[in-house]
Amino acid sequence: MDLERIRAHVADDLAAVDELIRRRLASDVALINELGRHIVAGGGKRLRPMVLLLAARACGYGGPHHVGLAAVVEFIHTATLLHDDVVDASELRRGQETANSIWGNEASVLVGDFLYSRAFQMMVEAGSMRVMEILADTTNTIAEGEVRQLLNCHDPDTTEERYLEVIRGKTAKLFEAAARLGAVLAARPEAEEAALAEYGLRLGIAFQLIDDVLDYRARPEETGKNLGDDLAEGKPTLPFIHALRESPPERAAALRRAIEEGGREHIGTVLEAIEATGAIAYTEARARTEAERAIAALEALPGSPAREALAALARFAVDRTY
Ligand code: IPE
Ligand code: IPE
Ligand code: MG
Ligand code: MG
Repeated sequence: MDLERIRAHVADDLAAVDELIRRRLASDVALINELGRHIVAGGGKRLRPMVLLLAARACGYGGPHHVGLAAVVEFIHTATLLHDDVVDASELRRGQETANSIWGNEASVLVGDFLYSRAFQMMVEAGSMRVMEILADTTNTIAEGEVRQLLNCHDPDTTEERYLEVIRGKTAKLFEAAARLGAVLAARPEAEEAALAEYGLRLGIAFQLIDDVLDYRARPEETGKNLGDDLAEGKPTLPFIHALRESPPERAAALRRAIEEGGREHIGTVLEAIEATGAIAYTEARARTEAERAIAALEALPGSPAREALAALARFAVDRTY
């Protein structure tokens, strides 16, 4: 099942989410409208809203709050992208110049804050303390993950475990929340909520592992992002960590220098080491294992087309090229 077929399961709801996003982006401040429209018009896969909508569907939810909360998770995601591109000094996102390249770092950070706080205004509308608790904890964990990552930057001694800790926080936690909220909205028993949370977490880990593979080898025309951003920022992701761990001493020393210095001039050395050590295959295998665990967790839910689409989404996270 490709992404379009998965999306088709919740196409109407997703259209409503997009409409709501456009409406709630609005502000009296022109710069917010302009910058917000730029990032939203850039597209984006809308994976996190899809997870929430499919999870709610798989749980038999029939109420009105799924669309609003799906917009909330996309707002939170978009806010983190604005902040992330400042921190990573990225110039390309969703196939266009990043907001920080156009309007500068200050505007990106502040509009990111606007989107975060707009998300909190909107989540209150669901009228559920439990929903607010989940999303408050989630945004807090995302921030921790980003700060953890900052501490790993330029550090060649970053271990696989420390890297996993980062991606669980900065990426997987929001997928976890999106999936969990489906069960919470539908007031499903604790076991189903836990199963969906596990699904989301594993999916999110797989998704970021592949994002980190794509950073070394994807086609920018497909991802809409520049190649080699992670190395340029001195960010030790799993392909790099594996290559360093498995390289003979001389090459290992060159890799350590590459991550300490950052920049793009060592990309050739790093790519050779990644090739020689099978680091891409290693990272993909880890991602596949996580996706399989995500799919296994879904067994706790009753069978349905929405459940199948969630499983397909976990496979997409691993097989994707964008
Ligand atoms: C990018 O996420 C940030 C990561 C967590 C890797 P997506 O790849 O879901 O970004 P969009 O929304 O589709 O642009
Ligand atoms: C994901 O990490 C960042 C967030 C969770 C916001 P990356 O820095 O790898 O994401 P991209 O590659 O810039 O989208
Ligand atoms: Mg980034
Ligand atoms: Mg990336």
